Parts: sequence; C-alpha cells; structure tokens
Amino acid sequence: CGIVGYVGPGSSLDVLIGGLKRLEYRGYDSAGVAVLPDDGGIGARKRAGKLGVLVDDLAESPIADGHTGIGHTRWATHGGPTDVNAHPHFGDGGRLALIHNGIIENFAELKAELTAAGESFESETDTEIAALLVGRAFRETGDLTEAMRQTVHRLEGAFTLLVLHQDAPGVVVGARRSSPLVIGLGEGENFLGSDVAAFVEHTKRAMEIGQDQIVTIRPDSVEVIDFAGTPVEAKEFEVAWDASAAEKGGWSSFMKKEISEEPDAVANTLRGRVVGGTVQLPELDGVAEELAGINRVLILACGTAAYAGMLGKYAIEAWARIPVDVELSHEFRYRDPVLDERTLVVSVSQSGETMDTLMAVRYAREQGARTLSICNTQGATIPRESDAVLYTHAGPEVAVASTKAFVAQVTALYLLGLHLAGQRGALSEAAIAAQLGELEAVPHKLQQVVDAVSGRIAELAHWMSDTQSVLFLGRHVGFPVALEGALKLKELAYIHAEGFAAGELKHGPIALIEPGQIVFVLVPSPRDPSSLHKKVVSNIQEIRARGARVIAIAELGDVAVVPFADEVLRVPLAAPFFQPLLGVVPLHVFGMELATAKGLDVDQPRNLAKSVTVE
Ligand code: G6P
Repeated sequence: CGIVGYVGPGSSLDVLIGGLKRLEYRGYDSAGVAVLPDDGGIGARKRAGKLGVLVDDLAESPIADGHTGIGHTRWATHGGPTDVNAHPHFGDGGRLALIHNGIIENFAELKAELTAAGESFESETDTEIAALLVGRAFRETGDLTEAMRQTVHRLEGAFTLLVLHQDAPGVVVGARRSSPLVIGLGEGENFLGSDVAAFVEHTKRAMEIGQDQIVTIRPDSVEVIDFAGTPVEAKEFEVAWDASAAEKGGWSSFMKKEISEEPDAVANTLRGRVVGGTVQLPELDGVAEELAGINRVLILACGTAAYAGMLGKYAIEAWARIPVDVELSHEFRYRDPVLDERTLVVSVSQSGETMDTLMAVRYAREQGARTLSICNTQGATIPRESDAVLYTHAGPEVAVASTKAFVAQVTALYLLGLHLAGQRGALSEAAIAAQLGELEAVPHKLQQVVDAVSGRIAELAHWMSDTQSVLFLGRHVGFPVALEGALKLKELAYIHAEGFAAGELKHGPIALIEPGQIVFVLVPSPRDPSSLHKKVVSNIQEIRARGARVIAIAELGDVAVVPFADEVLRVPLAAPFFQPLLGVVPLHVFGMELATAKGLDVDQPRNLAKSVTVE
C-alpha cells in the first residue's frame, strides 16, 4: 500500500492526491484521504477502485480542505476492495482517522477483546482494530504520540500506521515496524510517505525512520522516538531522484518510458564502476575480508528480480568459480536452510521493501551469513539491514511490471561476479577486462534493439490479441529470459504463459504443443563455442513438426535459424552472457504491446502491486 501524510500551510488535499498519484504503483484497488478542516471535525472520503475514482468523487462533491491530512492507496489483504474496507478507518467515535500498510497478525484476538469492550466494527479489515485501539488510548492520555506508542505494543505483525485526531490539529503521528516509512522535511511543512516519491515534488530533504520507531510531525518540528519512548536521532539524506524522473513525460505509459530507459539503466549502473578494465566497487571495501572468505553464494529474490538472480548464478559460477544457488525468498525462509558465515547472501530487490525478501535477509543474518543487497531504492529497508549494498541506478521504476530494473540488476550481479573473480584470481586480468568491455557495449546495443524491434512487435501483438497461451523456450542464460518473458505476459496480458528450459521440453511440456501454439525461442549465438545453437535449432524443429508457430529471437546474421522460424526478431552480436540483456527487450515490448492490444492498463495490471510489503 502507499501512504502519505502532511502538515503545513498548503492544501492537504493537493499534497495528498499528488503524493498518492506517485505512490499508486504500490496498490490501486482503493484509495482514501482524511483531513482536518480549519473549522473543526474530520473530513474523509474513501472509494474502491483506482485513485481516479476518488479524485472524480472529490471533484463532484468536495470535502472541506485543511492543513493536516493523511492519504492511502490500498492493495487489499484483509477484506476485499470495497468502499468500506478502503482506508482511512476511524476510532474514538469518528474523531480519529488512521491508515495502515501491512498485516496485523493477532487481529482476531484483538477484535474479540475490543468487541467484548463494546466496540463495533464497520469493516472487515485488521486496520480498524488499530484505529479503535489508538482512539481508546487517546481518550485516556489526550496525547496522540503516546496513544500510538501504547497501541504498537499490542500489535503483532508488520505495519506502518499514520494517524490524525480532530483534537490534535497540525499533528500527524506515524509508526513503523518492518514496513516502509520516510520523512520529508520542508520549510514550515513536513511530510510522511511510504517512499520519497510521496513528497519529492515538494522537498528533496528526507529522513530515515528505523524499525520500531514513532514519528510525530508538526509544521515546524519532527520528533522521532523508539517504541519505549526514548528520543532517537534520525539520519537526514538528500533524495537523488529528480521529481520529473518519476513522471510519465510524453509517454503513453510508464512501462513504455521505462523500456526506453533500459539502455540508460545499464549505463548508469556501470557508471564509475569500470575503470581501466577493472571493476571498482568501493561500496564493498568494508566487507572485503568477509567476501574473500566466502565459499558459497545464495541469491534471494522474488518475481523478476529472481530471474535476474538466475542470470547472476550462471555468470558468478562461470567467472568466480564459487557455487551459487538462487532461491525464492519466501521458500528459503521457511525450510530450515543450511548456511553459515562463509555464505554470502545476495538479495535482489528493486524496491528494497519486498517483505518476503526482507524476512529472508533477516533470517540469513541470524544464521550468521554475510548479506549484500542489490537494490534500486536509496535508503530502503533491505539495504539498510544488509552488511553492504550495491545500488542499481535504473532511476525510479513506476510501472508495476519490472523492466529497466531487471537489466540493471543483471548488470550489478555481473559486476559482482567479475569483482569476485578478480578477488580470487579465478579469471585473468585480461579476461576480466574483456568481459567488462562486453558489458560496456551493452547500452548501445540495447538502444539498437529498442529502436529496431518495437514496431514489428507491436504488429505481432496486434495480430495475436486473441491468443490464449504462449510458451517461451531458452537454454543456459536464455532460460531465465524465457521465464521473464512468460511472467510479463501473465502480469500484463493475463494470458497463460510458461517459460521452459528448451532441453526439458521433451520430458513433458512438448505434450502441450498443438497446431498454432505460439512459441518464442531464445536462440544462442551460432558463434558460441558450445553446441547450444544446434541443440536449440533441433528443439525448434521438434515443436515445428507438431505445428507450433515459432518466433525466434536470434542474433544478426544467424541464417541457420531462418528456415525453421515463422518470424525472426534480430538482436546485435554479443558474447553469451550478454545476450540475455538484449534478448529480454523484445519480450518486455511484447508483453506491453499485447496488453495494449487487449485494451489493458499496462502500468497497473489487475491484482498486483509493485512493492509487496506483506508476506
Ligand atoms: C512484485 C512485483 C514484481 C517484482 C517483485 C519483486 O511482485 O509485481 O514486478 O518483480 O515484486 O519486487 P522487488 O521490489 O523486490 O524487486
């Protein structure tokens, strides 16, 4: 969910709606605001549906504006996306409004307790419990910060809470446990947000809030305490993003813009890190000794980031000769895995807030492992809780389905692989320099792919808009790309899609092939010294013989594939490990274009949220 809070001289509704627009990628099944108008009381409005529904509703029948407010955009957990379940929720007889991100795990027992105490509930949410608890504590203490402090001790689970009360004008109180919240510092005004996007158009000065802390903002002050009530010194930082970077500009969708930024995402992630044929990662200096001692790497991630992790495995094993495993964070955490202080756990997360990955990292630390975060969001929770961080510099990614963050994550993993290879002498200096040369050539080649294939893919997608099922095949580094292509189609076009290792086809999935089945195949280079090109061409023949329509993604000049494919999409020549960075682009474009051809919203697909901060 996305959260924003404001106190200051401006119009709260403008600040809240502006912030929610920028946070909408965090959830968009309902939205709501609460403000304290100058003449007293609370004004609130909440509606199921995307933010636009709330905005239209407010335009049709406005509520009184004020100078203190909170706003929320929801990704439903407890209780379906209805007007009633939307946030804010109310306590103290409607005199208090509260918004929440996370899950309150002991909600059933608290609900029973509150019911026994005579409270009644309007919604099916766990959030309303927190609203009622803070309300009761406020009635006793008359102090909103203290009321929040008493309440958080009762709650189990993960949460960010923001609250305001009509008897406390000019005050918003926030609390966080394992769920994101940052402070924006203005002149005579202050902000709270799930991330800096909530307030970046107003201020670039931001402050981190740690775990289990409570913040009270007033127009002229910001106070942070821990759950015991002891004041805490919060750390200020400067937001590196430009507000316009998180805007659509002239593009028809964020996704289209972000695909066009894939070349820059790689270039910016490389910037300053390749010097004279060597890898320079000063951010790892502090853990150099630990890195030298590792005997195993474990990559943890979810979704697209996990596919980037798989590519990292192929490259790090090949270059640094260290065993690498990749695991979905939520599976790793709950299966009693074996790891120790010689294991390097590399988490990959665009947002740095994915709860599954955060919990996995915490667990790994408890087991003594070293933790390195690859993350795209400054100051996010996962990098802050890791021993070291390698930031990707893809810029803000807003579309829910990840694109430019993926290529940036792969780039960072490759840099890490070459760094480890150098550190352990697994590759010669010349070999490292050669791979880095290949990596540095990727942005330019990516630009060629973006320019060359987009038009033709739009035509193909249009022609396939009624397709019910699409398969993706790849081998070696083409396999994670096949998985990523299939995920994009599920996420964006709601089409059944699967990615397979091409060699696995004959062990089962080939039974799916019937006449007309569309299959994308990532074809390795014929220049590749392994025999993979021939093997994949054989796989293509096997499916063609059963009626499949094959769309091959092959390098320029690969004529061997032509007789067997219905369509060939061309990518520039690259060494094997760098082909996936190029081959993935046509699949990103295809997912977007097919969804567009079906009239779907590519930036905000149904049922999803970009940053899933619940387990
Ligand atoms: C969600 C998003 C995916 C994303 C995944 C991991 O499921 O919908 O697009 O790949 O989370 O997100 P992260 O921020 O950890 O990279």
